[in-house]
Amino acid sequence: MNWRKNILITGGAGFIGSHLVRLMVNKYPSYRIICLDKLTYAGNLKNLTDVENAPNYAFVKADIVDANAVETVFNEYQITDVIHLAAESHVDRSIEGPMEFVMTNVVGTVNLLQKAKDFWKGDHHVFHHVSTDEVYGSLGNEGLFTEETAYDPRSPYSASKASSDHFVNAFYHTYGLPIKISNCSNNYGSHHFPEKLIPLMINNIVHKKPLPVYGKGENVRDWLWVNDHASAIDTIFHKGRIGESYNVGGLNEWTNIDLVRHLCRLLDNKLNRRAGESEELITFVTDRAGHDLRYAIDATKIEKELGWKPSITFEEGLEKTVDWYLENTAWVDEITSGSYRNYYEKMYQNR
Ligand code: NAD
Ligand code: TYD
Repeated sequence: MNWRKNILITGGAGFIGSHLVRLMVNKYPSYRIICLDKLTYAGNLKNLTDVENAPNYAFVKADIVDANAVETVFNEYQITDVIHLAAESHVDRSIEGPMEFVMTNVVGTVNLLQKAKDFWKGDHHVFHHVSTDEVYGSLGNEGLFTEETAYDPRSPYSASKASSDHFVNAFYHTYGLPIKISNCSNNYGSHHFPEKLIPLMINNIVHKKPLPVYGKGENVRDWLWVNDHASAIDTIFHKGRIGESYNVGGLNEWTNIDLVRHLCRLLDNKLNRRAGESEELITFVTDRAGHDLRYAIDATKIEKELGWKPSITFEEGLEKTVDWYLENTAWVDEITSGSYRNYYEKMYQNR
């Protein structure tokens, strides 16, 4: 088969990556999608069972830090484009141990950039780097992050992502590598590892475990449905301008405490519990070190220039998400056994 493009999606077995792989495999049968993933604790091939037999899909287990492995994949699959999502992605883990974040998020990204630079001739290629709004730092009560906001990362996670964004831009300016960057707000949806706020709270409510809200729960996040992020990446990859960054967000700000209360009400209803029962599980715990107060995205550029906007409301997306977790208990049970328990105890005991 003569594929129109051979697109390498790194981190495709993770939360956002698996939604993007599914979208690309199904929407573009003339592209071959090569999913490269190290399968860390956050990577799960069960996230991809519905595409694993598709003729235009291939999976490679590899570490982006391993230059030889990356080179082999570029050669074997004649990679024409990269959509780069592989990363260590959890702020709390980055506070416990930053070095893994430097290795994967910085060294791994530079490795991929080097291979793309050495391998590609001509201008019919795209290196799309998927990044976060956390590179801009923390907002006060007013204002939004635009593409012009100065980088001011504060956690080891956001520092590593900011560094990777700078390297991606450096390869554009220095070597002319055809890059694009997207900086997205907090995602939620199915297949989300239950270390992050929304899936952790859903799982704890279901099991009637304490709901650990950091500090006073006043921190604000802007939430976007993961499938809408995947469609934004598809849009930017195909229509975005080379050398540009695009902010992606839902104009959907929630304080953590309001969001947790909302989830409690939703689940009390679905699980036929007494009104207010799950809210009694809310426990305020020691705040995260250096906890960013507020993230909020101005998505005017992608909306005006590329015509993208979120497809569903937060209420609809959250209900779909809760339903998915209630219907997929085997998926959750499998990943919350074993090493997740050690992680949970280490992070939440005595907090
Ligand atoms: P995730 O932690 O769910 O998945 C990361 C994936 O990368 C996993 O499949 C993991 O196995 C893989 N991986 C990790 N290290 C690797 C390595 N060295 N080599 C190859 N594969 C490796 O993360 P996610 O939430 O899906 O985030 C994906 C990307 O999107 C990340 O780059 C993240 O910074 C960015 N992002 C995430 C959010 C969010 O809310 N989750 C928001 C904006 C941007
Ligand atoms: P998280 O999902 O880790 O995403 P990020 O830190 O990248 O925004 O956290 C979202 C918010 O929820 C953040 O303000 C921290 C808070 N939080 C809690 O209050 N309790 C928890 O157990 C977790 C995981 C997060």
